[in-house]
Amino acid sequence: MNASLSTSLAATGNARSIGDILVANGRLTPEDAKRILERQKQDQVPFGEAAIALHVLTKADIDYALSKQFDYAYLPEADSSLSQDLVAAYKPFSKVSENLRAVRSQLMLRWFNGEPMHKVLAVVSPGKGEGRSFITANLAVVFAQQGQRTLLIDGDLRAKPDAGQHAMFKLGRGAGLSGILADRASLEAAQLVPGMPGLAVLPAGAVPPNPQELLGRASFGQLLMTAVHEFDVILIDTPSGGDYADAEIIAARAGAALLVTRKNRSLVPNAAQMARRLQDGGVHLVGSVLNDA
Ligand SMILES: Nc1ncnc2c1ncn2[C@@H]1O[C@H](COP(=O)(O)OP(=O)(O)O)[C@@H](O)[C@H]1O
Ligand SMILES: [Mg+2]
Repeated sequence: MNASLSTSLAATGNARSIGDILVANGRLTPEDAKRILERQKQDQVPFGEAAIALHVLTKADIDYALSKQFDYAYLPEADSSLSQDLVAAYKPFSKVSENLRAVRSQLMLRWFNGEPMHKVLAVVSPGKGEGRSFITANLAVVFAQQGQRTLLIDGDLRAKPDAGQHAMFKLGRGAGLSGILADRASLEAAQLVPGMPGLAVLPAGAVPPNPQELLGRASFGQLLMTAVHEFDVILIDTPSGGDYADAEIIAARAGAALLVTRKNRSLVPNAAQMARRLQDGGVHLVGSVLNDA
């Protein structure tokens, strides 16, 4: 696995001009593109600067075209193909996305370091609404943006049918993880996310009556064994650790966990207790993230 931060940025060149990209995308008319080029020549300034001076394009348009030029997957804000909660996809230049990339580089150093057994990570937290799903989804996006083959598994088999990672990525619930654990489906139930190359999501699937029993089955281990051959990074979302043993079972399978706590919401003793339980169970606690939103 490549440990450098911006593999895809360095690998691809400026194949298309910013003007071409925005014309192809319908954000710029060919006439306006010509006006910008003339202004650019006249003032000897970069294309983006000339376009902004002419009030033809916004900074967001330019950022979007630059990301396309460098093969950096992100979506324009008006695009509604995914949930707006995917900040890393919609606002890659925001502070939150910058922080997510900082977490990514810490995870690369501490866990996803190229060792074959270091490919799976469970994202856990003790309480509800602490941002586990938000952080797991956005981390999956930043790993995919970096060029890692990334699989996001929704291990929250207890979420309501209209909630969960499939809703975040606007995918069907499909057979999902519960279908695989019940031996009714295979890893092919994972779905590629349109517009996010390299990112696949395995939704939770139908809500089963016995999540904990399903997660304890050997088929979960087999699923991960198959997945590590196809992906570089596998992140697993979990239900709240304080309510069920599911998260601990998932973290034990993954071998490692990232602990999320939320400012003004998580109770420190609960988080500490969860950390202790995971470590007692032999789970490598890679680190913790304070969600300060
Ligand atoms: N850092 C954040 N910035 C903005 N919204 C957030 C952030 N973290 C969580 N949220 C929002 O808080 C709510 C609960 O987060 P969620 O990830 O579903 O929690 P959990 O999976 O831990 O139960 C969601 O509506 C989510 O969009
Ligand atoms: Mg959740």
